[in-house]
This record gives sequence, C-alpha cells and structure tokens, in this order.
Amino acid sequence: MEQILGIDVGATGTKGGIVDLEKGDLVSERLKFKTPDSKKPDEMIELINDIVKEMGWKGKPIGLGFPAIIKDRKSWSASNIHKSWIGYPIEEAIAKRTKSPVFCINDADAAGLAEMQYGVGRGQKGTCILLTLGTGIGSALFINGVLVPNTEFGQLYYKDSITEYYASNSARKNYKMDWDTYGKELNKVLLHIDFIFSPDLIILGGGISKKLDCYKDFLSKKMNIVAAEKLNNAGIIGAALAYYIYTSKSSKSEKAVL
Ligand code: BGC
Repeated sequence: MEQILGIDVGATGTKGGIVDLEKGDLVSERLKFKTPDSKKPDEMIELINDIVKEMGWKGKPIGLGFPAIIKDRKSWSASNIHKSWIGYPIEEAIAKRTKSPVFCINDADAAGLAEMQYGVGRGQKGTCILLTLGTGIGSALFINGVLVPNTEFGQLYYKDSITEYYASNSARKNYKMDWDTYGKELNKVLLHIDFIFSPDLIILGGGISKKLDCYKDFLSKKMNIVAAEKLNNAGIIGAALAYYIYTSKSSKSEKAVL
C-alpha cells in the first residue's frame, strides 16, 4: 500500500514522518524541528528540504500541511507566518527545491482529513468541525464527510479581535491562563461557532487536545466535543492522505471540493 511523506508545517514547529495510508499511521520516526524564526519562504522551504533529505525521500510523493489558506497551489494568508507567503506559489517552489511531487493543503484541513478517515470522525454524518488549538486556531469543516476547505474559523471576528487571540494555545500561554480560565474562554468561542454552524460533532486537535481533561468541565454539555484521536500526528497523516486523495487516485467529485 501507498506510503507518502507527510509534513506538517506549523508557525512554531515543523514535523514530518512517512505515513502508511492503509494503517493511517507513521511507519518511520517522527522528525520535529523548530520553524525558522523569520517564517519566510526561503528559510521554511530549506527546512522542508532538510526533512525530505533526512528521510531519503527525494523524488517520492510529499503531502504538506501549511498554516495558511491554500488555493490554486498558492498560499493566500499569513496570520502567524511572514507576509511574503501571501500569493506565494508554495507547491511549485517546494516541488522544485525537493525535486519531488508535492501536494499542499491547509494544516487544519489536513488534520481534519486524518480524523475523518482514521480517527474519531470515522463515519460521522452531518456537520463536523475540527479545530486545532496551537499557535493560532485552525479549522476544518466537513459536511457528510466531504471537506469544505479553507474555513479559517480562527479568524472569525470576536469581541474586539478574532477568536484565535482569545482561545488558541498561544493565547493561553501569553495571558498566563490557568486551565479553568482557559476552559471558560474556549467555551465562549466554541459556543459562538456552535451557534453559527450547529455542528453535530466538534473535534479538538493540536497539542493541547491531549490535555482536554484539564478543561473539559468548563465546556458546555450542549456541544458534542471530543479530542482528536491522532493527536499531534493528525497533521502529518492528513497531509499524506491529502496527496493521495487529491492527486491521481481521486474521483472528480472529490477533487472538486479543493
Ligand atoms: C491560520 C490558519 C491555520 C491555523 C493553524 C491560523 O492562524 O490562519 O490557516 O490553519 O492558524 O495553524
């Protein structure tokens, strides 16, 4: 069965591993590096190439999750990365540098695909939302299992700012929130999203999904909330899966959503 290198680029850390798509899991060690401070294309692409080299993966398929809107093979936003990524031909540049076939997708959309295929979202009908709580807040929206890409719920206007300034893991650290305070802030943001979309399931991903027990008592029981099963590997697994789904093997209708 197909093995694809999945790379999950975050504003803080960049991770990679070889994914077996039948198992839905890593079959190599998991590499993790600090994302370069400049967060500029040249430096970040160099790090991606280092991962490809270290994995001995030159010329083989790479799925890449990236913390920005990804459309028409370009990146179109830069909330927590350098502004020069806006309108940048990301897929072409990485394919050129790594000399490998590459498919790029938003990082949260990648994590969502992994959970819907292999994790807690399996078989989930109706409206399902995955939120990654990390440096920012990423989102993936699924309707009857089909991804509606690039939703950016972390950028929803909220109070005097946007939701990710209040409820991301960075916000928790920056404002030195204890788990009770964080749980209450996150609950308000989740209720806001819940009111707009009435999801059947909300999946929390990102590093602190592992710590859901620390704050779940503050989340309203009216919402159906679960932690991501693939936890911090969801982004890597989903990026590899996205390559498989959206390149040669997929049906036209599946491709149409990206
Ligand atoms: C970005 C999203 C990304 C999320 C998680 C946000 O700041 O706007 O595109 O998915 O962070 O990395």
